[in-house]
Amino acid sequence: MTEKDFIPKEYSAVVEEGKVTWQSPSNIALVKYWGKKENQIPANPSISFTLDSCQTTTTLHFQKREKSDSFEFELFFEGERKESFRPKIQKFFERIEEYMPFLKDYSFKIETSNSFPHSSGIASSASGMSALALCLMSLEKKLDPTMPEEYFTRKASFLARLGSGSACRSIEGELVAWGEHNGILGSSDLYGVKYTHQVHENFKNYQDTILMVDKGEKQVSSTLGHDLMNGHPFAEKRFQQAHENLDLLKEVFETGDLSAFIKTVESEALTLHAMMMTSQPYFLLMKPNTLEIINKVFDFRERTGLHLCFTLDAGANVHLLYPEKEKKESLDFIQTELLQYCQNGQYITDKVGKGAKQLA
Ligand code: DP6
Repeated sequence: MTEKDFIPKEYSAVVEEGKVTWQSPSNIALVKYWGKKENQIPANPSISFTLDSCQTTTTLHFQKREKSDSFEFELFFEGERKESFRPKIQKFFERIEEYMPFLKDYSFKIETSNSFPHSSGIASSASGMSALALCLMSLEKKLDPTMPEEYFTRKASFLARLGSGSACRSIEGELVAWGEHNGILGSSDLYGVKYTHQVHENFKNYQDTILMVDKGEKQVSSTLGHDLMNGHPFAEKRFQQAHENLDLLKEVFETGDLSAFIKTVESEALTLHAMMMTSQPYFLLMKPNTLEIINKVFDFRERTGLHLCFTLDAGANVHLLYPEKEKKESLDFIQTELLQYCQNGQYITDKVGKGAKQLA
């Protein structure tokens, strides 16, 4: 499929007003997206676990109006008007207008809330942008009732990507790949696809406990962060390495080799941070407590032979990944030894999920 395939033809139905609600999860990348080209095209492919309980719920109210030359929308976050979201949504609408030509025919009210604590430092752009993209797709489906299911899902991911790259991996579960890669069936730079190759049962219900080390504002916006890969001395090697790591993970998913999983996933996290430490300007996004946690995880593995491992996004918080059958020991360890490194002892227990769902 190409971008052009997402430009709709005539709509067959007229829709005056209504509302739709979608609940969409966050995701955690195993191979990281870091660096992009124009129009939200990733510089390298990535793959993520879709999460389960970290999610955004968005209701989109729509009312037909005279077409005008600007977008009309109101924004509410957890029940309160939220003007600070306006520029992001305005920009999103501008980017997707070509693919959603009805946007200026409606006035919208967008109500959104998150399941995770406000300003927890958990990235909400993936769950938020995917939920909004899905709501807009539901409206488009009302305008074109014959729309096939697969087109709906693809285009929702395509639109979410234009809002925030990683959001395109939040539509489906349980593993989603984004970015063209030879070994992955159907993979595309334009949208995320469900990973349909063999996955060993070791990865069923894989657990993710998120430790809130620092809830402060992000030091580097992801847009700036991705930009830092332009002209980065290690960029080309890094993009190539992401492809290699995807091949490694594909094999790991087949065999269920947890030690190899850990080696790849932890290296991806540290490489992401290494890229930020070696860009110009450079950023150090880990905090002392991030390192305390990582070292304790190494000790724990050494001591127990279990398979707890960490990954990081572009910040200080730590995602701890572990198989379901090691849940008790891992969670005990986290709760007794690691919560001291969290801000106000805050953490979230989550696991791999099945993707977004529409609510009645
Ligand atoms: C470090 O998806 O937030 O989480 O496309 O600019 O919105 P934009 O970037 P964003 O980047 C997230 C990068 C990451 C790694 C990942 O999720 O793959």
